[in-house]
Amino acid sequence: LDAAVVQRKLLRWFDGVRESRGMPWRKDVDLAEMDDEERSQRAYEVWVSEIMLQQTQVATVIPYWLRWMAKFPTVKALAAADIEDVNSVWQGLGYYSRAKRLLDGARTVVNEHDGLLPSTAEGLLSIDGIGPYSAGAISSIAFGQRSAMVDGNVIRVLSRLTALHAPDKAKSTTGFIWALADVLVPPQPERRKKAKEEEEEEGEDDVGGKNKPGAWNQGLMELGATVCTPKAPKCDECPLSDECLAYAEARYVAHRPK
Ligand code: ADE
Repeated sequence: LDAAVVQRKLLRWFDGVRESRGMPWRKDVDLAEMDDEERSQRAYEVWVSEIMLQQTQVATVIPYWLRWMAKFPTVKALAAADIEDVNSVWQGLGYYSRAKRLLDGARTVVNEHDGLLPSTAEGLLSIDGIGPYSAGAISSIAFGQRSAMVDGNVIRVLSRLTALHAPDKAKSTTGFIWALADVLVPPQPERRKKAKEEEEEEGEDDVGGKNKPGAWNQGLMELGATVCTPKAPKCDECPLSDECLAYAEARYVAHRPK
């Protein structure tokens, strides 16, 4: 598996589909030009979206996310709310413990972090209600950190990519997939280096917008949700089919001499 090839292909594909499902929290902002307050605000938006998306489809989440942001526009506004307000905005989404986790987390951020979300996965894990998945999502998407986010979609995509046939919920499997996902997250190019390369090579490698780690993780999630689906995956539309070992294996098995 050539990490650089897989990264380039998936990032190029995600550049083309980034806007297609109309997710209002999906913005390709220039993190380097924002201050701590603005990045923390962005992190709050991503946090809410990722918690809502954990058990709910994108199309259902969009109006809830918009209403939530109108009612609790900042982490401080959320921390000052009470559980009844929070539950009433959550009404209909199900799994109400998610709303409680957001509220508890917001209070921790205000009481223990001066109202600013930590920028690293490690720092985020210290917040009540933020686990490894959310920590990876927020640190990569809102802070450009090179951290992985692994859910059922990512387990399926990476298992197929490597033709791993193993129980997908076993601890050893998720451990392997997290390690692989960590290896595959592309680094954020240094700004100066990037500018220089663009001058020299006309931006040959300019994929993934302004935040490659964030675009990569969201691209993997998007691929799992729309192309590399559990049943009837659309391999003929997949940007990674030439790299995919399960795809090669299926072709090999189909053509195996009797
Ligand atoms: N599902 C959960 N989070 C997602 C994201 N950031 N992009 C696409 N699908 C998702």
